[in-house]
Amino acid sequence: TSAQSHSLQKPKILVARAIFPDQLAKLEESFEVQSNQEDRIYSADELKKALSGVVGALVTGSERIDAGALADAKDLKIVANISVGYNNFDVPAITAAGVMASNTPDVLTDTTADFGFALLMATARRITESEHWVRAGNWKQWSLINNPLGMDLHHTTIGIIGMGRIGQGIAKRASGFGMNVIYHNRSRLPEADEKACRATYVSKEELLKTADHVVLVLPYTPENHHTIGEKELALMKPTATLVNIARGGIVDDLALAQALKAKKIFAAGLDVFEGEPTVNPELLKLSNIVLAPHIASASEKTRRAMVDLAVKNLTAAVAGTKPPSLINT
Ligand code: DGY
Repeated sequence: TSAQSHSLQKPKILVARAIFPDQLAKLEESFEVQSNQEDRIYSADELKKALSGVVGALVTGSERIDAGALADAKDLKIVANISVGYNNFDVPAITAAGVMASNTPDVLTDTTADFGFALLMATARRITESEHWVRAGNWKQWSLINNPLGMDLHHTTIGIIGMGRIGQGIAKRASGFGMNVIYHNRSRLPEADEKACRATYVSKEELLKTADHVVLVLPYTPENHHTIGEKELALMKPTATLVNIARGGIVDDLALAQALKAKKIFAAGLDVFEGEPTVNPELLKLSNIVLAPHIASASEKTRRAMVDLAVKNLTAAVAGTKPPSLINT
C-alpha cells in the first residue's frame, strides 16, 4: 500500500487533553489523532461530538464519561483515563455501551505519597503561612515564641483513611519519621501488609479521636461523600491536622472552613476541593490552611508514565486484547 492509503487506515483516536508533544508525535505514528492540545476542557456537547467516530479516547478526570457522552460513540472500544481515580466514569453506563474503561494505577503511587507527606509537613509546620509572613515583612528578629509555631510529625500518631496503594505509601514514609500509624479502610489489610506498613487497623471514630494527623486517601464514591463533615471534625483533637489528597467531596469544605476558623482543629492541607477549580471562599479567608491545585501526581516523570500506561491500555483495546489496567472486566 502507498504511504497515503496506509495513513488512511490508521485507527482514529481522541486525545481529549494536552499531553507532552513527543508523546503525541509517537501516537501519531500509529493513529489518526484528533487532539486537544489547546487544553480547553470540552463542554458535554463537544465531548459527545469528539467521541463520535473514534475507536479509542485518552481522557482525564475532567471529562465526564456517561451515557450522554457515549450517545454517538458507535466505534468506541475504550475510554482510557489518564488518572488512577475514575469517579468521572459512569462505569455501568460505559459497560452497557460495550466500551472498555481503564485507569492508571501504580505508576503514580510513590509520587502521590511523596506529595501527601509534603503537604502534611507544610500544614503541620506552617510552611506556606511562614513564607507569606516573611514576604509581608513581619520577620523582625529571631524569637522563641513570637513566630509561627507548628505541630510535630515525629513520634506522633498518623491516621490514614483509605489504605490502598497510596495510603500504604504514606504509612511507609510515616514509619521513617517514627510515627505511630493507624488506619481505617473498607476492609482490613492482610496481616503481611499491615506488618510491612507497621499499621494498626482502627474504627473511623477511634482514628479521628486519637490521630494527631489525619490523611485522606480514599476513592470518591457516593458512600464516601462527606466522609469528613461537622460531626467528624468535632471528634478530632484541637491540635490535629487534616490532609486531603483524595478527591473533593470527601470533605465537606464549608464545615472544614468553620472548624478551622473556630480552631476546632489546628490546620488543613488540601490538594482537592468540592467543585474545583473553584475553591470555597470561606477556605480562602483562612491562614491555617495550605492549598494546592490538585498536583499530587504532578512530577513530569510520573505524568509521562500515566500517559504511557493510558496509551498501553488504549492500544491493547484497539488491537482486540485485554488492557493491562482494565476497570470493567
Ligand atoms: C488521579 O490520578 O486520580 C489524580 O487525581 C489525577 O491525576
